[in-house]
Amino acid sequence: MAEELIISASADKQERYQTLIPQIDALVSDEPDLIANLSNIAAALKQAMNFFWVGFYLVKDKQLVLGPFQGPIACTRIQYGKGVCGTAWKEKKTIIVPNVDEFPGHIACSSASRSEIVLPAFRNGEVYLVLDVDSDSLNDFDDVDAKALELVMRIIEKQL
Ligand code: SME
Repeated sequence: MAEELIISASADKQERYQTLIPQIDALVSDEPDLIANLSNIAAALKQAMNFFWVGFYLVKDKQLVLGPFQGPIACTRIQYGKGVCGTAWKEKKTIIVPNVDEFPGHIACSSASRSEIVLPAFRNGEVYLVLDVDSDSLNDFDDVDAKALELVMRIIEKQL
């Protein structure tokens, strides 16, 4: 496909996801390199959804290590079970945090982050990477984000 996203600026969140997800699928389907694809997915999500921070942490040597992202610089390594990302890894499920100050052990890579969603992607039943999205507003993520971003994780899993 052409390297240009079609995004309707006036559309609501759900509509923007609906337009975006098939484009993400098309963007990565002919490219076997995972890092190239994660890089474009982070950029596409940032561009279409205007997230404050969006990126990936990959499981390496029993830690999460920073991968492709868009936004301010971030912490590079997260331990199993620590922070929102390490908890999503341990619990193998999507975690929505409406207020990061109320999440025990939240890791503040940026003091501007207020709410967060983290989703795991699996290979052979084990977490291979997580997608982390941060907002500078409270209560910015809900079930619409969870369902749409879980579809993005299923697209990624086709390549793991
Ligand atoms: N807040 C995350 C750390 C990663 S940064 O937000 C990019 C956490 O608690 O796991």
